[in-house]
Amino acid sequence: MERLKDKVAVVTGASKGIGAAIAEKFAEEGASVVVNYARSAKEAEQVVNRIKEKGGKAVAVKADLSKVSEIKPLFEKVQQEFGRVDIVVNNAGVYEFLPLNSITEEHFNRQYDLNVKGLIFTTQEAVNRFDGRGGNIINLSSVVSTAPTPNGSVYASTKAAVDAITRSLAAELGSRNIRVNSVLPGPVETEGTSAMPGVKDFFSGLAAQTPLGRVGQPQDIANTVAFLASDEAGWVTGQTIYTTGGLR
Ligand SMILES: NC(=O)c1ccc[n+]([C@@H]2O[C@H](COP(=O)([O-])OP(=O)(O)OC[C@H]3O[C@@H](n4cnc5c(N)ncnc54)[C@H](OP(=O)(O)O)[C@@H]3O)[C@@H](O)[C@H]2O)c1
Repeated sequence: MERLKDKVAVVTGASKGIGAAIAEKFAEEGASVVVNYARSAKEAEQVVNRIKEKGGKAVAVKADLSKVSEIKPLFEKVQQEFGRVDIVVNNAGVYEFLPLNSITEEHFNRQYDLNVKGLIFTTQEAVNRFDGRGGNIINLSSVVSTAPTPNGSVYASTKAAVDAITRSLAAELGSRNIRVNSVLPGPVETEGTSAMPGVKDFFSGLAAQTPLGRVGQPQDIANTVAFLASDEAGWVTGQTIYTTGGLR
């Protein structure tokens, strides 16, 4: 099934984890994919190579999306490579957990600069390029936007902001046939989460509270994102879709 045939998709933070799985799934569904990364050039090229080996189209493009000045050049490259953009997945995100007392301005800015500021300005640049054809924005939020954990006040609040942005922009852009949705993953095994101290115990505790009895894999999230990106979700906008194995 090629639900995204002839579409051009930008997946931010696609060198690893959930973003890499989304990029690969989109390519399987027929899209031409821009694999954005900030630092991991080798991993981004590996994602592109896996896509090309299966006959798909992809290119890796470096841009640190926490810097507004790097967003326009990313989309100029997309235009140059594929001539248009139809779908943007705002997946690039950072997560760090600290108790209130230890929160620093740097901890705050690092997460807000990418998870909120980068997402807004990436969306602005994309929407300006949809050019009357409609389009599709999918934002990676988190279950913590509505079920925050201790030590996660900054991170959880960035994701609550993402959901508010999703609802606001869905209302604002619907008349231009632009759909905007959030996907809220539960705990997912990725390069990022495996680097977190104590993650094994934390995740097994969460799996025990999860109706489906396990943590997620990147492909679990990619499947939901691919549905939202496709015409099958043509009447779905402004939604926050939990993909958590039932964890709330
Ligand atoms: N994994 C989970 O359990 C989980 C749960 C809920 C929500 N989420 C959300 O899902 C998204 C992906 O999470 P993940 O676990 O897959 O992350 P990950 O394994 O840490 O990968 C993060 C990706 O984002 C990129 N990135 C980081 N900083 C960037 C920047 N400034 N500009 C552009 N790209 C940047 C990284 O590329 P470089 O290496 O090149 O920097 C990498 O490709 C995030 O928004 C996260 O908040 C994850």
